[in-house]
Order: sequence, then C-alpha cells, then structure tokens
Amino acid sequence: MNTNHRTFEARLAEFREQRFGLFIHWGLYALAARHEWVKQRERLTDGRYRVYFERFAPDLFDPDAWAEAAKGAGMRYMVLTTKHHDGFCLWDSALTDYCVTGTPYGKDLVGPIVGAFRAKGLGVGFYHSLIDWHHPDFPVDGLHPAYTEGVSNEGRDISKYADYLHGQVEELLTRYGPIDTMWFDFSYSARRRGGELTPGGKGRADWRSEELVELVRRLQPGALINDRLEVPGDFVTPEQYQPTGPVAEVWEACQTLNGSWGYDRDNLDWKPVDLLVRMLVDTVSKDGNLLLNVGPNGRGEFEPRALATLRGIGEWMRLHGRSIYGAGPSAYQAPPDCRYTQAGDRLYVHLFSWPYRHLHLPGLAGRVRYAQLLNDASEIRTLIPDPSVDSGHTRLSALPDGTLTLQLPVRRPDVAVPVIELFL
Ligand code: GLC
Repeated sequence: MNTNHRTFEARLAEFREQRFGLFIHWGLYALAARHEWVKQRERLTDGRYRVYFERFAPDLFDPDAWAEAAKGAGMRYMVLTTKHHDGFCLWDSALTDYCVTGTPYGKDLVGPIVGAFRAKGLGVGFYHSLIDWHHPDFPVDGLHPAYTEGVSNEGRDISKYADYLHGQVEELLTRYGPIDTMWFDFSYSARRRGGELTPGGKGRADWRSEELVELVRRLQPGALINDRLEVPGDFVTPEQYQPTGPVAEVWEACQTLNGSWGYDRDNLDWKPVDLLVRMLVDTVSKDGNLLLNVGPNGRGEFEPRALATLRGIGEWMRLHGRSIYGAGPSAYQAPPDCRYTQAGDRLYVHLFSWPYRHLHLPGLAGRVRYAQLLNDASEIRTLIPDPSVDSGHTRLSALPDGTLTLQLPVRRPDVAVPVIELFL
C-alpha cells in the first residue's frame, strides 16, 4: 500500500496553485455516444445496456496521449471517473464482475491512466459515483432508469450497497498510490425538481457519508474531498455555471466542452477556445479552479474537436500561464470587461474586449512601476493625466483621481485573451 505522505495543508495549497485540471468521463456510455445519462434518459434495461459492456474494446487507448494533451493544454491535474452512475467500474474490482476485466478489453484501465498522468507530473484524482444503476441492492429511485411510480424495492438493501461503495473506495485508495482528490457524485435527498422532491432521493444517511469521509482520511490523509456527500467537503463544486461573485470557500468549477460529460457524437454545442479561456480567467479571478472535461470515445481516443480545443487553450497557456498558476483575486477593482488576477506584486489585466487606445485603471496611479503585454513582453506606456494642463488630454481629466491610463496599441494582440502584466 502506498499512502500519501503530504499533509492536508500542503495538498490544499497545491490545489489552489494548480488552478486548471482535466475531468475525464469514460465508461460504457462512450459507445452509445449520446451522453453519460443515456441509460436513464432512454430508460434502457440492464439487458439493453449490456451491449456496450460486450463491445467495450478501446483498441486505440493510449493514456500517454491523454496525459500529453492535458499537459499541452496547461492542465496540472486530472480527475478520472472510476465508476459513473451506470455502475461500470474501470478497474478490476474484487467486489463485482461489472468491471472492465469482463469486457473484451479485459484489463485494468485505472492503473495505466494514473501512471501516465503521474509520469508527466500531473496530479491524480478519482471521481466516484455514489449513484449506481446496476447494483442489485441500490433501491430504485426517481433518477433510476427502472423507475416507475410505485416501483417495488423489495430485496434491495441500501446498507449492503453502502458496504460495497465503501469497499470499492478502499480498493481505489489502496491500489494506486497517493490520490490527490476524491470527487464523489452525488446526493439528492433534498433535491427538488419543479418543487418536487426526487422519490427515493438519497444522501448522507444512505452513503454513510461521515464514515466514508473517515475512510478517505485514514487511507489518504492528504486527499481533498469534494462537497457532494451532504457533509461539508474541502471544496465546493459549481457545475456548468460560473459564480457571479467571490465564493467564500475553496472551489472548483466543473465545465464541459459541449454540455455533455460523456462522449457525445452528434453534439454541436462546442465552446470556442476564447470562451473557455475567459472562463478559466474568470474562475481564477474569483479564487477558483477550473476542471474542464473531455469524454474519450469508444476506441479510447480524445476526438479531434476536443484535441483542437485543448491545443488552442494550450497556446494561450504557454504564453499566459503566469497570470493563472499560483495567481488569485486582487483587492483592486477591475475596469469593465476586464478581470484581474494577482500573484504577489504582479497584477494581471485580462481584456475580454479590446478598447480603443486607452484603458483606465481605477486606483492604480502611482502604483505601477512597469507595464507590458504578457504575450510578447512589449512595453505598454502609461499616462497620468495632469488636470492643470489643457492639452489633448483634457478629456482624460474627467477621470476619478488615482486613475492610471494605459496606452494600448490599436491592433489587439492575436491571442484568445490579451493580458497586460503590471509590476506594482
Ligand atoms: C452530474 C452528473 C454527471 C456528471 C457530473 C459532473 O452530477 O450526474 O453526469 O458526472 O455531474 O459534475
């Protein structure tokens, strides 16, 4: 057994430095190629869903290529779905046959993926579904593919399922060395849809969440735990939206490339690179991390659209990583259409739209020693309007005292989001 020797505090500090990670949703649903909830959405029976188990044969699976793509995008860690809601396990669990070793592929996937990411210096976390639409002891509830009103749960014993859940978490946390994050998903005992509680909704008492947290702490004292167990976690997880203001807790936004987590062949909702970069910047300016998802396909590859997007982000990150890693919010107030991040005495102005010639920064007059565009280290000259001089600059003198004005080139640098680095 390989335990995590880092202290919890060191891990938390590392997490906040890293800022950008890869979420990987991979499982049988990659073959259906129409969203990871396909079993539930289409109410597929176990028998019908079985075809994907029998055909799971990712012949092009190359975890080094995945890790390379993540690293190239500037990501610093990954979180892998060891099991999703369909119950299929990506490792050789001693507790079920419903795992990768029973498919034509026939071998553990978790170990090679973990190894490939670690070899590139990337952190490793596990997403693990609390929900299980395959386990015979998991009571059928309003989210379950087999749900109908008045469905009988006779013979299903949630406490046996909870034992299974704990046993599998123990396997995952004792077989693969130091794990940085346990990302559980999700609880819904109090969730309302259109005012209605989910029938049979499950949560803390069902998973025995406190005990599960203790188990993780005991096996991997340096691991962070997310907030979906209905007990307080180490970080919170806004999903597919950006918080509008500061968040009091440590947080990590999780976002898709196209609205689906699992591989979704016919999906057209792809977010463009510049939008994703703005989302990352916005997240860091509010002191959060961004976990951006790729759903590999049934042959084991990241599809070309995902790879192109990751490359696009990587081009930006190569030049601008300084404004992201180890950076956080600034006490200064950013002007409209801008986001600030700060790391020590460097203040980074991210321009979401490119103004004509001048950028006015409130409260920064006299506080900036030097300014440059980050993409090419070209100087940006500053201008402090002197209200006593009636020059072509008089229009600037209407600005509030203490405003620093930057003189921008007319042509916007050709990068997804231009950044000006200010040396305070
Ligand atoms: C959700 C969904 C799921 C996805 C996850 C990622 O709760 O059920 O399919 O894995 O969020 O945050």
